[in-house]
Amino acid sequence: MGKTVLVTGGAGYIGSHTVLELVKAGFKAVVVDNLDNSSEVAVKRAAELAGDSGKNIDFHKIDLRDKEALDKLFASTAIEAVIHFAGLKAVGESVKKPLLYYDNNIIGTVNLLDVMRAHGCKKLVFSSSATVYGWPKEVPCTEESPLFAMNPYGRTKLFIEEICRDLCLSDPEWSIILLRYFNPVGAHPSGLIGEDPRGIPNNLMPFLQQVAVERMPALTVFGTDYSTKDGTGIRDYIHVVDLSVGHISALQKLLDGSELGCEVYNLGTGKGTSVLEMVAAFEKASGKKIHLVLAGRRPGDAETVYASIAKAEKELNWRAQFGIEEMCRDSWNWACKNPWGYESPDQS
Ligand code: NAD
Ligand code: WQD
Repeated sequence: MGKTVLVTGGAGYIGSHTVLELVKAGFKAVVVDNLDNSSEVAVKRAAELAGDSGKNIDFHKIDLRDKEALDKLFASTAIEAVIHFAGLKAVGESVKKPLLYYDNNIIGTVNLLDVMRAHGCKKLVFSSSATVYGWPKEVPCTEESPLFAMNPYGRTKLFIEEICRDLCLSDPEWSIILLRYFNPVGAHPSGLIGEDPRGIPNNLMPFLQQVAVERMPALTVFGTDYSTKDGTGIRDYIHVVDLSVGHISALQKLLDGSELGCEVYNLGTGKGTSVLEMVAAFEKASGKKIHLVLAGRRPGDAETVYASIAKAEKELNWRAQFGIEEMCRDSWNWACKNPWGYESPDQS
C-alpha cells in the first residue's frame, strides 16, 4: 500500500483532480472538506475515474476549524504528508467579509499545522496563488518578484506563506512547498469532474462556460484599454490536470528529499493569453458564439500576469503539457455534460 496523503479541500475544483492523480500515482488519499464550496459527488466521480485505485480514496466531512475532529483523524490514520487546498477564494467576497476569510483560511491553516505538528507529520504542500504578485511591475513573475496583496483573500495567502516560513525556521524537520498557481482552467478530459462554482462565477472560464450553455446571456469584458495586444487583460491559464500533476511532483520532492525547509514554485505555462484570445479559443472549441459586453476595468485587476516557470521545470522536473486549445476543449466538454455542475440531471 502506498503512502497516505491528506488532501484538505479535496472535494473542490483543483482538489478533486489532484485526488485522482494521487491515487493513480499509487498514493492513498484521505480527503477532508466541509463541502462549503463543493459537492461530495466530485470525490465519488474521482474514485470512479480511478478504477481499481478508487478504493484508496476516503472522504471525511470536516471543517479545518474543528481541531478536535482533525486531531481524531490524525490519531486514527498514519498520514505521511498533507496537500492543503481548503480555503475560500472569492476576491470580491473577501473584501466584503474579511473576518470570514481570516477565520476560515488563516485559523483553519494554523489548526491544521498545529495538529500535524502534534502528530509528527511535517510535510506540506500549500495552495498559494499568483495573487501574491499583485500588479507585477515586471513579467514574467519569478519566485523572487516583490509580493503584494491587493485584497483580504490575497493577504490570507501572503500571511499563510509567512506562517509556513516561520514554522520551517523554527523546526528544521518541517518541509513545506508553496505552490503559486496562475489561472487554473479546464477539466478532466472525461468531463466527469470540473469547476462548479456556487452562484455567479467571478472568473473568466466558468463565466464563459455559463454563457455557452445559456445560463448567462453575455460575458462582460472587464477593460479594453490596457496596454496589451488587444487592450484586454493578459493571464497565464493552466490546465487543471497539468496543475494536479504538478502537485504530485511537489509531493515526490517532499517525500524524497532530506530537510527542504520552505520552498516556493510558480505553476503556470509561462505564456500570456488575452481575454479576447480566450473567448476566440472557447468559441472555436464549443462552436458557440459568445456575446460580449465591453466594459470598464474591474477594480483591483492587474494588466498582465504570467509566470516564469524555470524553477519548477528545473527542481520539480515538471512542465505543463496542455495549451489553451485543450483547456477550452475540456472546459466545454465538462460544461456540456454538466450544464448545472454536479447538480445536473444524470445524462448517462
Ligand atoms: P474550491 O473552492 O473548488 O476548493 C476549495 C475547497 O475547500 C472547497 O471544496 C471547500 O468546500 C473547501 N473548504 C473551504 N474552507 C474549508 C474549511 N474551513 N474546512 C474544510 N474545507 C474547506 O477552490 P479551488 O479552485 O479548487 O482552489 C483550491 C485552493 O487553491 C484554494 O486554496 C485557492 O485559494 C487556491 N487557488 C485557486 C486558484 C483558482 O483560480 N482556482 C488560483 C490560485 C490559488
Ligand atoms: C481573468 C481575466 C479579467 C471575468 C483570479 C484571482 C486570483 C486567482 C485566479 C485564486 C482578467 C477578465 C474575468 C469576467 C473578464 N485565484 N474577466 N470578465 O483575476 O486573473 O485571478 O483567479 O487565487 O487570485 O484574483 O482571474 O478569471 O477572474 O480574470 O473580462 O467576467 O479575465 O478582467 O483580465 P484573475 P479571472
